[in-house]
Amino acid sequence: MTDTTPVVVTVTGAAGSIGYAAVFRIAAGDMLGPDRPIKLRLLELPQAVSAAHGTAMELQDGAFPLLTSVDIFDDARAAFDGTDFGLLIGAKPRSKGMERADLLSANSAIFAEQGAVINDVAADDIRVIVVGNPANTNAAVAAASAPDVPAERFTALTRLDHNRAIAQLAAHTGAPVRDISRVSIWGNHSATQYPDIFHARIGDRSGADVAADTDWLVGDFIPTVAARGTAIIEARGASSAASAANAAIDHVRDWVLGTPADDWTSAAVSSPGAYGVPEGLMCSFPVRSVDGAWQIVDGLEINEFSRARIDASVAELQSELDAVAARR
Ligand code: NAD
Ligand code: LMR
Repeated sequence: MTDTTPVVVTVTGAAGSIGYAAVFRIAAGDMLGPDRPIKLRLLELPQAVSAAHGTAMELQDGAFPLLTSVDIFDDARAAFDGTDFGLLIGAKPRSKGMERADLLSANSAIFAEQGAVINDVAADDIRVIVVGNPANTNAAVAAASAPDVPAERFTALTRLDHNRAIAQLAAHTGAPVRDISRVSIWGNHSATQYPDIFHARIGDRSGADVAADTDWLVGDFIPTVAARGTAIIEARGASSAASAANAAIDHVRDWVLGTPADDWTSAAVSSPGAYGVPEGLMCSFPVRSVDGAWQIVDGLEINEFSRARIDASVAELQSELDAVAARR
């Protein structure tokens, strides 16, 4: 039977670029399906509350049938009270010339505080996606600040990288996006991430066959996907927004409603020690959603080429977490 109980969705940084792009699609039912009424909570910094009010007025003007209420907060404890889904977007974005790691100290404090609040007041079965960068480490920080919430309820966004990899594969091979499956993003949402196509299916070709063109793989595909965020900042003068919102919605939708049969996606989840990734690192893996929970795809053969790249990104994740711990 379809569940029509309203759910509480809290979006942080709701007046920012990604938040603004996300909330209308959430209200339209793109994230939780066409039958799920939504109570939206918008959390902002005090100076952006007025802008959030403007967004709320526009949401009202959308007359979305599923949108039961929109409330605006500048207090995290009130915004997360009883929350079922937390989209943690609010943070400083990267500007030209910065690496995501440069945001570490500025942003990790936000996620420590919000994790602790979620621990105290959110619904017991809250699901959290962290978008604010550096997303993996911010999610690890939030999870560590919420000891009563199972770690698997905290995740970080690497679906944008996954979608970018599929789009690049489609452009390179001519296969339609819908005929590309089983792409994997491993590691950090950063320049060290590893988009892995060795297990992919690309139209009527195997990923290993496409990957055999190492000049293209190493000289074009991997750096294009890994540096796409930078290329967008260079071109737009601001970091990706609509594509990031779209990916966050894809992530939560698949988490709740399931991944397509015979495919998987990518998400950063707390490592249980899978594929040699140390426990507790918030690492991107190939994942399937089964009965509303992410499961890391197991048993994939990892060749030497992939192993070296996964290890490099995992080492970066470890050093980010160590840097946060050293500052405390
Ligand atoms: P933005 O500057 O347009 O908006 C950020 C908003 O967050 C602002 O309105 C700000 O007032 C608010 N904010 C800041 N601190 C807050 C707090 N403690 N509580 C509530 N709100 C707070 O930035 P944006 O373009 O929307 O990007 C948001 C974040 O997402 C950045 O860190 C960016 O780097 C990151 N990002 C991640 C991905 C990904 O794939 N993981 C992709 C794109 C951008
Ligand atoms: C992206 O991948 O587009 C974002 O993470 C923005 C950034 O900082 O690169």
